[in-house]
Amino acid sequence: KIKVIFDTDPGVDDAMALLFLHRAPQVDLVGVTTTFGNGRIATTTWNALYLTERFGIDAPVASGTAAPLVGPVPAPTEFVHGANALGDIDLPERITREADPRPAHRFIIDTVRANPGEITIVAVGRMTNLALALREDPAIVGLVREIIIMGGAFGYNGFHGNVTPVAEANIYGDPLAADEVFGGTWPITVVGLDVTQRTQMTTEYLQALAKDGGEVGRFIWDITRFYVAFHHAAGVPNMFVHDSSAVAYLLDPTLFATRRGALRVVTEGLAIGQTIQKPDDYNFPPGAWDDRPSHAICIDVDPARLLALYRRTIVGG
Ligand code: BDR
Ligand code: CA
Repeated sequence: KIKVIFDTDPGVDDAMALLFLHRAPQVDLVGVTTTFGNGRIATTTWNALYLTERFGIDAPVASGTAAPLVGPVPAPTEFVHGANALGDIDLPERITREADPRPAHRFIIDTVRANPGEITIVAVGRMTNLALALREDPAIVGLVREIIIMGGAFGYNGFHGNVTPVAEANIYGDPLAADEVFGGTWPITVVGLDVTQRTQMTTEYLQALAKDGGEVGRFIWDITRFYVAFHHAAGVPNMFVHDSSAVAYLLDPTLFATRRGALRVVTEGLAIGQTIQKPDDYNFPPGAWDDRPSHAICIDVDPARLLALYRRTIVGG
């Protein structure tokens, strides 16, 4: 089994990705670490505890910090995910699970060190926890099996940013953290808007999940009502598949086409949060980016196969 830490800000599509990981037979979910983003850190951590408790997911939850590496605590994106970040469904007053006493970045370091070469980190929120782990223990770059990141936008397939014309939300929410993470020599694959917006769930697809997917399928239907309405208000007829695309890459990388190259994030000015790759297969003159490690980005996807994998994993059979 693949040992996975899921770094997340649940979040409607984060919850869908967590359930995808939970149902995947080849995955051993060893921890959930939380980031601010779709909600404040107290909200996303509570949601992670609630989801693990409700669905019997046997993994500790460790809370991340409330703010990016620099700058103030940002306002949560309530207009996308709802005030409770789970589409404003009714939630219980109380849960019994409690968070791991360690901060998320320490949990990541300890777990990676206890399982050298075995941990895959699927990161679908702001990159703050990963950057803090890297700052505190730089040697972990050689001990992580793989990092799969949902974030960024590189301009493939006609897709650009979703916060500004060039910036995607997870990167925009802590651009410095993302730039530091991309500067590490750990093996990274980035699953950005170029592919996540190409894969869309229709109402019929979600209805069929609700019908055939038991409690999990019905829960997905409930939490996606608000998220789908947000898409509709933005003129998008179907729902983009962001965070679950990172899980899909983990389960079946042949769904994607990738390109390698050095990665940078713009950390100030008008284009703050923009992700840029200098592809290895393009003959640039030698220059300032040559000391940056090469990482893969996803530039294309097979949406039909990805949606079939998600359905098969949630519904079973
Ligand atoms: C990303 O931002 C969040 O709203 C989603 O959960 C996803 O991780 C998409 O830009
Ligand atoms: Ca997310």
